[in-house]
Amino acid sequence: MIPPHGGKLVERVDFSERVKEEARELPKINIGIDEARDLGNIGHGVFSPLEGYMSREDFENVLDEGRLANDLPWTIPIVLDVDREEIGKILEGDEVTLMYENMPIAILKVEEIYPYDKKEYAQKIFRTTRIEHPGVVNIMKRRDHLVGGKITLVNNPPTNFERYKLWPKETRILFKEKGWKTVVGFQTRNAPHVGHEYVQKTALTFVDGLFINPLIGKKKKGDFKDEVIIAAYEALFKHYYPKNSATLGILETEMRYAGPREAIFHAIMRKNFGCTHFIVGRDHAGVGNFYGPYEAQEIFYEYPDLGITPLFFRSFFYCKKCGSVVNEKICPHGPEHHITFSGTKIREMLIRGEKPPELMMRPEVAEVILQFDNPFVE
Ligand code: ADX
Repeated sequence: MIPPHGGKLVERVDFSERVKEEARELPKINIGIDEARDLGNIGHGVFSPLEGYMSREDFENVLDEGRLANDLPWTIPIVLDVDREEIGKILEGDEVTLMYENMPIAILKVEEIYPYDKKEYAQKIFRTTRIEHPGVVNIMKRRDHLVGGKITLVNNPPTNFERYKLWPKETRILFKEKGWKTVVGFQTRNAPHVGHEYVQKTALTFVDGLFINPLIGKKKKGDFKDEVIIAAYEALFKHYYPKNSATLGILETEMRYAGPREAIFHAIMRKNFGCTHFIVGRDHAGVGNFYGPYEAQEIFYEYPDLGITPLFFRSFFYCKKCGSVVNEKICPHGPEHHITFSGTKIREMLIRGEKPPELMMRPEVAEVILQFDNPFVE
């Protein structure tokens, strides 16, 4: 089995009554669902080797080098933003309870409270400070200080998809039980079109198992809703996937839309789940025209020590001359023969209540999506 990032699967979980009682007594900071989910990810090792929120040293090193202070690859800050006034009485060295809707989620041992520059954060992580970028908007809305420190998870964050919720410890057992020595992970924030299916199945040709791992959590307006993505994959699995070599499980964290940097982060999380390979196709984790179509592949050359093998794919499309789904590496015909799997076009058809052509989307998938009043995030 592939070792987790940093060598050891982090487990910072204590669900004992004693610790829950302790959590009730401590000063409290309220958090949202995205923070609660990421606490689950820290506690259960999805973010291994992180044991809590980043210290200033780690945070700054991630911004400047795309690595933790100990030089381990890491590209996205995992931080808790706070208002200095609001947490006025809390000092470095104190313990606080992080609360989501009256439920204690974790105890945080405050090691550091430090200011940061949001513009610098945006520029280094998203390569832009333009507010048209949803990740930038998100950062600009955050509070002015960050807190670093280790956490102990005292309750799991709530999930709407219990059936598909697997932590790395569980996926590692699952892959072993299935006898998969090599497993390719697939990140997605979309209901699947035929292009997605081809990328996955092409990759699966070379490994033992396929782990489809849709990202569930905060997304931008116009993206598919979480429940639609799950229902669409259930339909695809039922009709088109081999039972013994593909499986579905969710990852609950927000989309950052950080393109190349997020692709590395996505790969690290899948390594922690036990994947040996990770798919990176066209414009992975991209938004608008902020990143070049293959920039998220190029960044992997800066990380020869990542410890998971990326599988790169050129964009798949349908070629009328070939009579099949192909990409520019394997098709000699001109663009006039090509039908691209445009997310925008598919979305427009679905909004009009139309089924996209079968060449673009499986009819069973389209039918499921059309059963939703509004399949898209508003
Ligand atoms: S993402 O934001 O999660 O990357 P999406 O769910 O659309 O968006 O993509 C999931 C993965 O499939 C990414 O690695 C992406 O590059 C890849 N992908 C999507 N469409 C295609 C396509 N037509 N050809 C090749 N790869 C694709």
